[in-house]
Parts: sequence; structure tokens; C-alpha cells
Amino acid sequence: MSGIQNPIVVLDFGAQYSKLIARRIREAKVYSLIVPYNIPAAELAAMKPAGVILSGGPASVHLDGAPMPDPEVLQLEVPMLGICYGAQVFAAMLNGKVERAKEREYGIAHLEHDDRSGLLTGVDAKAQVWMSHGDLIAKLPDGFDVIGRTENCPYAALANPAAQRYGVQFHPEVAHTPQGKRILANFVHNICGCDSSWDMGNFVEIAKQEIREKVAGRKVLCGLSGGVDSSVAAVLIHEAIGDDLTCVFVNNGMLRKGEAEMVQHVFRDNFSINLDYVDAEEQFLSALKGVTEPEQKRKIIGNLFVEVFEQEATRLGHMDFLAQGTLYPDVIESVSATGGPSVTIKSHHNVGGLPEKMNMQLLEPLRELFKDEVRALGRELGLPEEIVGRHPFPGPGLGVRVIGEVTRERCDTLRDADAIFIDEIRKAGLYDEIWQALVCLLPVRSVGVQGDERTYEEVCSLRAVTSEDAMTADWYRFPPEVLQRIANRICNEVQHINRVLYDVTSKPPGTIEWE
Ligand code: XMP
Repeated sequence: MSGIQNPIVVLDFGAQYSKLIARRIREAKVYSLIVPYNIPAAELAAMKPAGVILSGGPASVHLDGAPMPDPEVLQLEVPMLGICYGAQVFAAMLNGKVERAKEREYGIAHLEHDDRSGLLTGVDAKAQVWMSHGDLIAKLPDGFDVIGRTENCPYAALANPAAQRYGVQFHPEVAHTPQGKRILANFVHNICGCDSSWDMGNFVEIAKQEIREKVAGRKVLCGLSGGVDSSVAAVLIHEAIGDDLTCVFVNNGMLRKGEAEMVQHVFRDNFSINLDYVDAEEQFLSALKGVTEPEQKRKIIGNLFVEVFEQEATRLGHMDFLAQGTLYPDVIESVSATGGPSVTIKSHHNVGGLPEKMNMQLLEPLRELFKDEVRALGRELGLPEEIVGRHPFPGPGLGVRVIGEVTRERCDTLRDADAIFIDEIRKAGLYDEIWQALVCLLPVRSVGVQGDERTYEEVCSLRAVTSEDAMTADWYRFPPEVLQRIANRICNEVQHINRVLYDVTSKPPGTIEWE
């Protein structure tokens, strides 16, 4: 069965790990997507899934209003795997019993199994698994047998092979279940019968076809930032529709050193993409004059970006589509356990609001992909590593890294320091280990001594973090000699900086960017 026509559908019961499940399935080269737990059975059936996974979730099946799937979902003749809460859903709906565990079980356990159903084939007889649950299955659902147990959990794995229903109390999708990938691969390949046809080469052909059908000879405008997502989206769309695509690249004066040249070189010279380069440095910097409050800066930059973009679009003539590099994690509306909107920590910059205003449709060819898949796609499309492997860079650019007032001179100072930081990280072979590395220019001055001279100059702070998804992050432990080299070079080579700090704050409580 082809993974693309017959996906593995993950019903999301609000687990923090739902995205991880879909990602693991895709790593097994099977296409997988996530839908809300309450999708109507007919809609789910229309997706022709090869298999369905019921995710974990923070609720208890005993709570009033506990999330439950459409009962007819369980009637579908499709293999199903329930994970944690998902397995308890089988027990709750199929005449089993779920009870509160004496103690919430959280952490590593050891699974002993005697499975003949195929789910645990190849898994060690005693395998480490990761548990995180407050409820336990106390009586098996109708038709199920136990196939694995841990010390505290007598029904840690269960199966009803005749009905193709399986359940695990532990989390096979997390790294702390080292053989979890194997279990998920067993489910999708052996039980659901999926082949391994989901890869980027395959995706390129399908995506190009879809873009051509959707655009149908009309015009597409793409905002290019030089970051991975918009770059990959632009090249993919260009491969599909050639000159019907025009990219707009706005130089807002807050780009990194050499960035404007690099983007023009890669896209115009190497890919022959129609590229409209807009030098709006003056416009942005004068709008930011005297502004120091972070949210105000973000709003000014975001609004001005939309304005400049709109002017360019009008100048270029009518455009039917606005292309964006939206990714799958931005699209999935995970079911919130608590409901209610979350607070705004920072107003992120994008070109939202434009399509309605300008009567354009959205074209988002990456909306089914995760970041690492976008990188793989970029490589497949021949994008250079300097773009594909690049650290993320925020929409408002150096505007949120020049702390305090943003001026051209301070941007230049920061650009020089940033280039040295990245250069030394690359030379030390550490670039790919680090999620993101950045320099902030602080709104303080310090006294120093250079040669025999007293200096009174600016201070910068280096930040490098490791992260999976930017939701949480840890500060990177540099070898001291690397930090020393970076600090020496910045103080010696960058005019106006005489002191370098290293930021050792994790996220939370800090965010990755300072503003
Ligand atoms: P924070 O600072 O919130 O950042 O921890 C998380 C990630 O998001 C990036 N970031 C942005 N990306 N537009 C973007 O496209 C923005 O306005 C923006 N602000 C922050 C940040 O660099 C980090 O990778």
C-alpha cells in the first residue's frame, strides 16, 4: 500500500507527542498526518487510511467531557494502534476498564513481552520503554489479549489481531523508548501493509503536479527571506511553474552580513528565478528611529514589511497567489487540554493579512512537512548547504538583536560581530550541533583598555542554544578555547565593541531571542 495515497492518520487527543508520532511514521517512509480526535468516521474513511493511531493525551477517560472518538471510528475496518490514552480509549469503549493508578507512573520501565501478533517483532524480550500516565487499563477490552507487561503495568501492551486492534500503555514515539521506532515500523509495515515510498524525491513530483493544477497558468508572488522555508518553497514552485513565479526580497537594513548578495546570487544567478530586490533600508530605519520597546519595534517592522510588499506587488501587476513557506507544525491545531487562547509572548512577523487585503489565494506547498523534511527537500532540489542547513533567523532580523535603538551604525557593528561568531562556530565544526547562534548588541557601554588607550564602547552578548523545535532550548556548552577565540576576535576586529558576554539562560525562563 502506498503511504501517500493511504496515509497513517494520527487522531490527536491533545498529547504533546502527537507531532512526534507523525514524524516517526514518516521516518519509516510512510506518509502520516494528524487530525483532531473527533473527526467524523465518514471523513476519516474518505482519507483511505492504511492505519489509524490514537494518540496519548492529558485527559482521563473518566472525566466528564473526556475526548472520545466518533464511536463509528472503531467500526472502520482499518488497523488501529492506541498509545497511552489512546489504548485506554479502547478499554473505555470496548467493555474494558480503566482505573486510576496508585501512583502516577512517569519515567523508564522495562517491558517483558511474548508477542506473536507482529507488533513487537524484533523487540528485545526485556526492552526499555517510557511511561507517562496516571490511569491504567484494569480490565482488557473485549477481544484483546495481553502481549507485554512491566513491573507496575500488567497490561502494558495488548492486541486483538483478528480485529487488527493494538494498544500500548508506554510511548513508542519518544527517544526514551529506544526500540519504539521498531514498534511503530512493525505497525505500519507489517500490520497496515504500508510500503516505504514516502521520500522527498517522491514528494517533489507529487507537489509539483499539485502546484501546477492549483495555479493553472496564473501568477504567484513569493516573499523570499533567505531562510530555509521560503527558499525551499520558492525553488519548488519555480520547478513547477517557472516564470509564473516572482519572488520579492526586501532588504530591511536588518539582514546579516552579505545576506542580500547571497540571496540574489543563489536565486537569480543559480536558479534563474524572477527576483525583485527591494532596498527598503532607509524606510525601515527611519521608521524605527528612537524606538526601543521590543513589541513596538516588532509591530513597526511587521507593518512596514506588509506595506513594502504590497507596494511591490501592485507595481508587479495582479498576482493571484501568495506563496509562503508554512510548515506542518504551524498548521496542526493540536487539541488544547485546557482550551482558551495562549498568551502572546512575542508577536511573530509574517505576511499575514496580505492575502485577504490583496485578494490573493495562499499557496503553501510545504504545509505537510516538518522542518527536517524541508531541509531534505531543499537538498533534493539542489539548494546549497549554506541555505538548507542554516540556523533559523527571525522575520524582524537584527532589529530584535540590536537591543535599544536600531541605527545603521549599530546594525553594522552587530553584523560584523555576528559574522565572526558564526565563522568561528563553523571553523570549530560545531554549526550543525547548534540549533541557533546569535549575537545581541546591548544598550550599555563599558570601559576597556586597548593598547594603552582607555575605551568606552558597546557590549555584545553571544547566545547559542540546542533545541528540538524552539519551544524549549538549552544553552550550548562551548569549549572555553572557542569562546576565547570568538571574544578576542570580536574585540580586536569589530569597531565599537570592547566587551563580550555569553548568555547561559535556558528557555524557559528566557526566550531564544532577547526581544
Ligand atoms: P523565541 O525568541 O520566541 O524564538 O524563543 C523562537 C524561535 O523563533 C524565531 N523567531 C521568529 N521567527 N518571525 C520568525 O519567523 C519572528 O518574528 C520571530 N521571532 C522569533 C527565533 O529566532 C527562534 O528560532
